[in-house]
Amino acid sequence: MMDNERIQMPEGQDLKAEIERLRKERNAVILAHYYQESEIQDLADFLGDSLALAQAARTTEADVIVFAGVHFMAETAKIVNPERIVVVPDMEAGCSLADACPADKLAAWKADHSDHAVVAYINCSAATKALADIICTSGNVAKVVASLPADQPILFAPDRNLGKWVSKQLDREMELWPGTCEVHVRFNEEKIIEEKKLRPAALFIAHPECEPNVLRHADFIGSTAQLLAFVKDCPAPEFIVGTEMGILHQMQKIAPGKTLIRTPGVTGGPECCACDQCPYMRLNTLEKLYLCLRDLEPRIEMDEELRLAALKPLERMLAL
Ligand code: 13P
Ligand code: SF4
Repeated sequence: MMDNERIQMPEGQDLKAEIERLRKERNAVILAHYYQESEIQDLADFLGDSLALAQAARTTEADVIVFAGVHFMAETAKIVNPERIVVVPDMEAGCSLADACPADKLAAWKADHSDHAVVAYINCSAATKALADIICTSGNVAKVVASLPADQPILFAPDRNLGKWVSKQLDREMELWPGTCEVHVRFNEEKIIEEKKLRPAALFIAHPECEPNVLRHADFIGSTAQLLAFVKDCPAPEFIVGTEMGILHQMQKIAPGKTLIRTPGVTGGPECCACDQCPYMRLNTLEKLYLCLRDLEPRIEMDEELRLAALKPLERMLAL
């Protein structure tokens, strides 16, 4: 089917009703990340951080997995559940961290450090995962690193900031790959100090992909799911949220009485520059979600040898 044919929508179509109809007809499950737009979050069968989504993808018995997130997340779903058809709303939804660490470069780094174990953050391609000894997510990174013997030297890729954060927490040296998330590194230390002064009752909570000079002002650091749980359980009335703004939708739902403030970015308030929006996550729309369910494409396909190689370090993480 031609691309321009694919994007044509029948006029007057009720998208949500059509998605509902197709979901049943295809026996499909819709998995969505917290950074997706609110409408997608609201119709997902399962919503989670990258760890919970990998676990959900592994156990689903649906015939089709519609993955509303970015490419590496959908690839992970295919790695752990190869019998299912995995489709994505937009194949171009990538990630700056995955782009920062291509498999050939990681292989060269690994060859220069043959006595090191490789811990790879899940934000990387299947080919990069295949070179790792174990995968981690932002939700389990400390547990994963601590699972390796204390005298085992470690290469950590691709997120430098996540690596630094866990290294400090565990007081454990690691060699760090210099990748970063292009969204989280935009948060600005001075603006956060100003915001905290303006709002003395607010707690600043942040994702560990932020720069260390931003993280040192955080009252709590965690994965998206951990940030959500913190806002729900903590009695504080106000939170400055240091991560992608898509998560505010769920935060407001689970903690309706709390005030949530978007983190100011590099050029000033987030409203002026959308600094806190992931351009890859935002490529997914309700229309594209409908189309991938209708056409069962674009599809994630993977060479079996590569899949098995990437599965090994993923299974090691999931077993923890
Ligand atoms: P989580 O592991 O918290 O889902 O984060 C994934 C991600 O891409 C953060 O930018
Ligand atoms: Fe990748 Fe950053 Fe987007 Fe997360 S927010 S998917 S790490 S670019």
